[in-house]
Amino acid sequence: MADTTRVTVRGEGDYDVVIGRGLGDEVAAAVPSSARRVAVVHPGSRPDDARRIGESLRRAGVEPLLLPVPDGEGAKTSEVAATCWSALGRDGFTRSDDVIGVGGGATTDLAGFVAATWLRGVRLVQVPTTLLGMVDAAVGGKTGINTAEGKNLVGSFYPPSAVVCDLDALRSLPPVDLAAGMAEVVKVGFTSDPVILDLVEAGPSAALDVEGDVLRELVTRAVQVKADVVSADLRESQDGGLGREVLNYGHTFAHAVELVERYRWRHGHAVSVGLVYVSALAHLAGRLTSDDTARHVEVLRSLGLPTTYADGRLPELLDAMRVDKKTRGDLLRFVVLDGIGRPGLLEGPDPALLAAAYAVVAKESS
Ligand SMILES: NC(=O)c1ccc[n+]([C@@H]2O[C@H](COP(=O)([O-])OP(=O)(O)OC[C@H]3O[C@@H](n4cnc5c(N)ncnc54)[C@H](O)[C@@H]3O)[C@@H](O)[C@H]2O)c1
Repeated sequence: MADTTRVTVRGEGDYDVVIGRGLGDEVAAAVPSSARRVAVVHPGSRPDDARRIGESLRRAGVEPLLLPVPDGEGAKTSEVAATCWSALGRDGFTRSDDVIGVGGGATTDLAGFVAATWLRGVRLVQVPTTLLGMVDAAVGGKTGINTAEGKNLVGSFYPPSAVVCDLDALRSLPPVDLAAGMAEVVKVGFTSDPVILDLVEAGPSAALDVEGDVLRELVTRAVQVKADVVSADLRESQDGGLGREVLNYGHTFAHAVELVERYRWRHGHAVSVGLVYVSALAHLAGRLTSDDTARHVEVLRSLGLPTTYADGRLPELLDAMRVDKKTRGDLLRFVVLDGIGRPGLLEGPDPALLAAAYAVVAKESS
């Protein structure tokens, strides 16, 4: 039996996120015996994970339908979703059959959307193969595709029935993508679990070692934070506290960078710069100490993540921040820290503060 850790996400139907190594059989075990067909949605460029899962499904007596889709964001289109629906239709998929999403966040977002919409919802098992997918995209039940007008504009809240994070999958992930995923891990370290920061500071290379126990602990801790947040606020309704919005720490500025850079920046890199920006903003607003602000830069830099952004682009970034979906009315809204592990909100900051915080991220890149 594989050595696994389980984190439970509570909600309309509780589900487990299983974290460990060599978990091919865990995926098959997550499919109920009532399922006669299982579609394995995966990037066509990475057939091996899907093939392995297919073999373990066959051993469990279920015939898999391997559904290759375009790589990365290319999968998140209505055309690709329609191709998947047609394949399920031709194969006679019923309400008691399952969809498995295997791949990065783009693939699991598409697979989730297809599962949510086919026959108004069939069971979904997510098998993220990137660090970002494990700690963020595949956990929490947000699914979606892009349209010509923007990213993630069509989708639904549709929790999976299980998420299987096989750390062995990360062996093939390029180091730059591993580090980018680590930006989301560090983010929840700052907002909710400072032990994450201690672990990274104790040894950044151990944190990035896919064979090591530190990475496993970091993934487990980050998943636990996301599970706790999502369990308390399943559909981003908030009910008073910060709710899921806490996960947006660093993201207001990050989304603006992504838009201005026309999505050529990795999301995790934009988040890294966004964390530096928002920590500077909180300091200038008198809410975060200079030591805590410096800690943001040091931790992110130690992981090889960018901490500066080009000078002279504030007007474009402000325009982009104003159209970000997290903005309420015309008021810019930032999740900030009042200390490590103490998130709060900063609404409608003074334009001079916004410019001064920008000067901090722009200073070394000019
Ligand atoms: N649903 C959510 O809550 C949520 C949260 C965060 C991000 N997202 C979405 O996640 C997506 C980004 O996810 P991502 O960073 O995983 O990108 P991705 O899915 O585009 O994957 C990045 C690249 O890595 C490849 N890849 C996947 N696994 C690999 C492996 N083990 N080894 C080598 N290469 C591998 C992919 O094929 C792709 O080319 C975006 O579409 C974003 O909108 C969703």
